[in-house]
Amino acid sequence: MTATEAKLLVAKRATEFIEDGMAVGLGTGSTATQFIQQLALRVEQGLRIRCVGSSKASHDLAKSLSIEMTTFRETPVLDVAVDGADEIGPGLALIKGGGGALLREKIVISAARSFIVIADSSKIVDRLGRFPLPVEVIQMATPLVERKVRDLGLEPTLRRDKDGSPHVTDEGNYILDCACGQIADPEQLAASIRGIVGVVEHGLFLGMATRALIASDEGVIEKMP
Ligand code: 5RP
Repeated sequence: MTATEAKLLVAKRATEFIEDGMAVGLGTGSTATQFIQQLALRVEQGLRIRCVGSSKASHDLAKSLSIEMTTFRETPVLDVAVDGADEIGPGLALIKGGGGALLREKIVISAARSFIVIADSSKIVDRLGRFPLPVEVIQMATPLVERKVRDLGLEPTLRRDKDGSPHVTDEGNYILDCACGQIADPEQLAASIRGIVGVVEHGLFLGMATRALIASDEGVIEKMP
């Protein structure tokens, strides 16, 4: 199965968890994009839902596909959020933010009663840390945060766009991709990073996923925390 086929498989399965009347958080990235496209097909067939996007890209895509969008003022609690991940570790601890949308993704997921993570099996790891941990930072604080994450033993690299300029998130911040090596204690690392002034959010999503749908050659495997 190709990666695209795997993403499509889990995206389709995830739409089966969406019921009429639900408020849905839409993730960001190539897997979440497939989910939004599959969801749009169900909307076309009459499913009535309202959604909040976790990035401008996902919001715009959903809107272009005639999915009704809402805001947290109108809809402060979502029934479910569906999103991809860069790594899925034990207990469904995740690294996210490869697509640069970690801040809004965490906001959307935190507003949801449940969070279904969708991915292909290449994202499963025994221990988090193979994927560099994205950390979103206030632009002017970046040099200070870089020094402090180095003090924690991480190796930060400022994310850049293809033209070489620093990547700017939807919220106007920079991202440091922090090589961690295997993360022995994700909770402790999350707390240490959170304690650095100038850090807006980090890509450790701990205790948030309530279900994982993983595409494998045998089909979709469901995992619970
Ligand atoms: C974006 C994310 C994505 O969910 C993550 O990067 C996975 O992306 P993809 O589905 O393209 O592999 O966290 O910020």
